[in-house]
Amino acid sequence: MFGSARPFEHDGIAFGCDYNPEQWAPDVWDEDIALMIEAGVDLVAINIFGWAHLEPREGEYDFQALDDIIGRLDAAGIRVNLGTGTASPPAWLVRAHPEILPMAEDGTRRYFGGRQSWCPSSPVFREAAVRLAAAVADRYGDHPAVALWHVSNEIGCHNALCYCDESAASFRRWLREKYGDLDALNRAWGTAFWSQAYSAWDEIGTPRLTPATRNPGQMLDFHRFSSDELLSYYRAEADALRSRSAVPVTTNFMVTAHIDDMDYWSWADDMDVVANDHYLDGRLDDPEAELAFAADLTRGLASGGPWILMEHSTGAVNWQPLNKPKSAGGILRNSLTHVARGADGVCFFQWRASVQGSEKFHSAMLPHAGTDTAVWREVVQLGDVIERLGEVAGSRVDAQTALIFSWESWWATQNESRPSSAFGYLEQVHAAYSALHALGLTVDIVAPGADLSRYRLVIVPGLHLVRAEEAAVLTDWIAAGGTGLVTFFSGTVDEHDRVWTGGYTGPFREALGIHVEEFAPVEPGVPVQLSNGATAHLWSERSRVTTADVEASFVDGPSAGRPAVTRNTWGRGAAWYLATLPAAADYRALVARLARDAGVRAPAVAHGDGAFELVRRRGTDASYLFIVNHGSEPLLVECAGTELITGASVAACAEVPGGAVRIIREEAAR
Ligand code: GLA
Repeated sequence: MFGSARPFEHDGIAFGCDYNPEQWAPDVWDEDIALMIEAGVDLVAINIFGWAHLEPREGEYDFQALDDIIGRLDAAGIRVNLGTGTASPPAWLVRAHPEILPMAEDGTRRYFGGRQSWCPSSPVFREAAVRLAAAVADRYGDHPAVALWHVSNEIGCHNALCYCDESAASFRRWLREKYGDLDALNRAWGTAFWSQAYSAWDEIGTPRLTPATRNPGQMLDFHRFSSDELLSYYRAEADALRSRSAVPVTTNFMVTAHIDDMDYWSWADDMDVVANDHYLDGRLDDPEAELAFAADLTRGLASGGPWILMEHSTGAVNWQPLNKPKSAGGILRNSLTHVARGADGVCFFQWRASVQGSEKFHSAMLPHAGTDTAVWREVVQLGDVIERLGEVAGSRVDAQTALIFSWESWWATQNESRPSSAFGYLEQVHAAYSALHALGLTVDIVAPGADLSRYRLVIVPGLHLVRAEEAAVLTDWIAAGGTGLVTFFSGTVDEHDRVWTGGYTGPFREALGIHVEEFAPVEPGVPVQLSNGATAHLWSERSRVTTADVEASFVDGPSAGRPAVTRNTWGRGAAWYLATLPAAADYRALVARLARDAGVRAPAVAHGDGAFELVRRRGTDASYLFIVNHGSEPLLVECAGTELITGASVAACAEVPGGAVRIIREEAAR
């Protein structure tokens, strides 16, 4: 079903979990498996943290327990998503080789006793881990129950940036490869500044903490290097698996609001199936919109094709300041939102709630309180729904709008010295996405430079770092008739974090028809008024139009009288620019206008007061309209077909009860 050389084949939509049987005595395992069957679980990730069990002493393997558990799962018809077991090194390895411990930016080590205590550049760690992955692949590579390889776990979650000497040596090798000679590196990093010029490669280190702010070019390259280093680690394990087994290989990404260290655009091609872990983040204003964003971005990484939600939660996590359970129906709404946005697998962390260890207060499919619980009943209900949605697998999400997203811009925007620390890259992205989301418009998230020809509307929020050729893809697409919206701080620096001169927005400037002279950030909490009645925050700038029309200007604040929203006719299209961050309702109104101009429509017409999501997945014989009602009142949606959960036929209008999800099979592909 997935478009790789080694497709992950599954009957319908996979439903599963992480399972850590090593935390339990074997007499619990049979009960676990019986309950998995009751819930409809058919894909189970095991051996994620298996190393200390599989290799209790160097070179001494003990596969007995793993043989046993794989055998039991197989006998029950449950497929295995087999971890290589390398996510966390065993104590003996760390004791023998303390140099594998990662180093923080202040030069202190991070020790054993948590997890992921390894340096991504450590040859000792890599060799030991690949040896274990190979041993696991030798033993289980053609086991009929093994459906998927799960390399390590959330690679880079805690150890992405290591500042040790081994990492420095590897960073230098990476830099030599990239720049060839020191002059090129000195130019790229702008080391003429503050006497930073390098005259020998060995002078270059990882960007450990310095008395003043650090070199932004070095920081940016260190991010790139660190992402590449972890990818090369993944490849080393994946190669060991692929040379021994025909089973598809993946690892679980963390496309989420608080992890930015991996540039997954460069990782995606190495996955036989893209997989993501996502947890609702109660610290955000609109966690559900962020969930939808993460799902859309994961689909982008899968080039629009199906992907697997490898982990999410049935309730509270344990790593936020306040860990909230989900509201009634939340498990279904969240899971099916991922499915609506392209997931062909829905899995949880974890199966049975731990009673010991750091995650004992993390929710699970089987809670501490057992099966007589709302969570368990909802899990069983979800399993039943997933079963009914089998025919949806393989269909593709339909979108007329794209949003350009870049990890490089995320890194460059967050540099230590910037015009305002009051907002980050992701806030800009989320604000734009939330406006689209609230309007019920489906969005593909694409990389800078991606082909835009299938879209009508493209939003470019805060694309701070941009190469001329990437900008040209957008401006050429607009010239050919597209409607594009670029927002402030976009086009500010090139790939070396060097300012595009001649007026901010650099390579977008001419198409936008504006000349931005000066940034004028606004105090947090102090609104600015726009001439069209909108309120905005955090940013303004002093600019004038060259060829654009002013749609709204700043009434007050540091840029009073200057353009805030502009529209330029560029070729056959329209190039819009937004020089501030409008309040949510005003952002929505602006995006609604652009969508209207561009002829973009929501997947269906809905009538109701609360928040909802509408997404259409298109298959070969039918399309599937997903309706997620986040509100408490019924929602009416104009559509016709058969509802897959209830089996009801819908003649012209589906009524979706408050908090419910409905999926309509629309017979004639629309
Ligand atoms: C990640 C990890 C899991 C677990 C969960 C908790 O997703 O992969 O091992 O720690 O977080 O939310």
